[in-house]
Amino acid sequence: MSQKKQQEQRIDVEAAARILRDNDRGGYSVPTHGLYPFQWSWDSAITALGWMKIDEQRAWQEAETMFRGQWANGMVPHILFHKDAESYFPGPDIWGSNTAIPSSAISQPPVWATAIRIMYETCQNRALAEEKLGTLLPKLIAYHDWWYRERDPEDTGLVCSYHPWESGMDNSPAWDDPLDAVPEVDWTYQRRDLGHVDADQRPHKPQYDRYLYLVDFYKRHGFDSQYIYEHCPYKVIDVSIVSILQRASSDLLELCRHADYKSGVDELENELARTGTAINRLWSGKRHCFLNHDLMSGQPLDEVTTATVLPLFGGLADTDQAAGMCNLIGEWLAATKVGLSSTHPSSARYESQRYWRGPVWLHINWMIARGADDYGDPQLAERLRSSARDCVMTSGFWEYFDADTGDGCGGDNFTWTAAVALYWLAS
Ligand code: DGY
Repeated sequence: MSQKKQQEQRIDVEAAARILRDNDRGGYSVPTHGLYPFQWSWDSAITALGWMKIDEQRAWQEAETMFRGQWANGMVPHILFHKDAESYFPGPDIWGSNTAIPSSAISQPPVWATAIRIMYETCQNRALAEEKLGTLLPKLIAYHDWWYRERDPEDTGLVCSYHPWESGMDNSPAWDDPLDAVPEVDWTYQRRDLGHVDADQRPHKPQYDRYLYLVDFYKRHGFDSQYIYEHCPYKVIDVSIVSILQRASSDLLELCRHADYKSGVDELENELARTGTAINRLWSGKRHCFLNHDLMSGQPLDEVTTATVLPLFGGLADTDQAAGMCNLIGEWLAATKVGLSSTHPSSARYESQRYWRGPVWLHINWMIARGADDYGDPQLAERLRSSARDCVMTSGFWEYFDADTGDGCGGDNFTWTAAVALYWLAS
């Protein structure tokens, strides 16, 4: 289809809204039928932005349901297993966390405060938004406090991640080396993802063996934060988590100001300042982006992935760094058919359709476009948006898109793709 024809065509908002409704399980949305039958945290936050366009009450409910699963220590788990489902592995029995709502024992990129700020600022129903913000604010503060307290106990300014699943960018080549250092599980299991999606689009078994070793590790050590911090065999500074947390903390501060909410605000300001300085340790003048870092080997992880330019979204770059990243992104966009690919195509580990090793994820493209806009590059933001739009116009609402062809990959009728289309692409 020609570029002009695509531009003339409109995103099918009815189809996108239908996906949200079909994937609604009563107060929360599953990412897609079968492959992901529970509530995932960052999916859910992005989904709430889509709901906001069609049903504000339901959008707030998405957040309320997620925060009902918040742990006593403040963590918001990455999965809430609201109901049993045979179609997914590993389930709550493997995680073993024994929470009131069965859950996983790690978190996910903390995009919630950013989503809630957008919801609060764009709502039609102000009274509803004020009421919901009042109940959500203390929970958000507790969640951010958990990140800084438990994941940066030495106050370095850079929180760490204990699992590739925590990054949400599960199979990114950036995690290959730190994950290789993790032992493999010695028990057998049956993966369920391969029953839904082609094996070429999913992680390999040796990676799964290590994902499961880590899940087992937290359980064997009673989810003891101090022990895990000292002994977890996988400990990474993930630039995407650091950046998303930074933006979310600054959005949270803004929400606290609106609501005249004081508790925890000083601590949040201190953490923002600390991260603002510490991020410079990750800057690579050679790569023109911020590199992830392996805390076990003490080495930078030299892969250019979408994580490494997310400091644009986090407001963490200075002017020169931002210009360097915007140039890099411009050249990167030109190197694939649709963009922005999750791994730079010049990487030896780039695979255009395998999970997080190359494909395009629209919510990440939205974050980077938002960052480009903030740093004064609206043309780049528009290129990212139009390229994301091409994915949906050409292939529909897939989980992710082959960066070389634009073909849909992973799960179909995917909730966050529909939500991003409603929130960002249709407007
Ligand atoms: C999976 O099972 O693929 C998920 O990404 C884990 O969160």
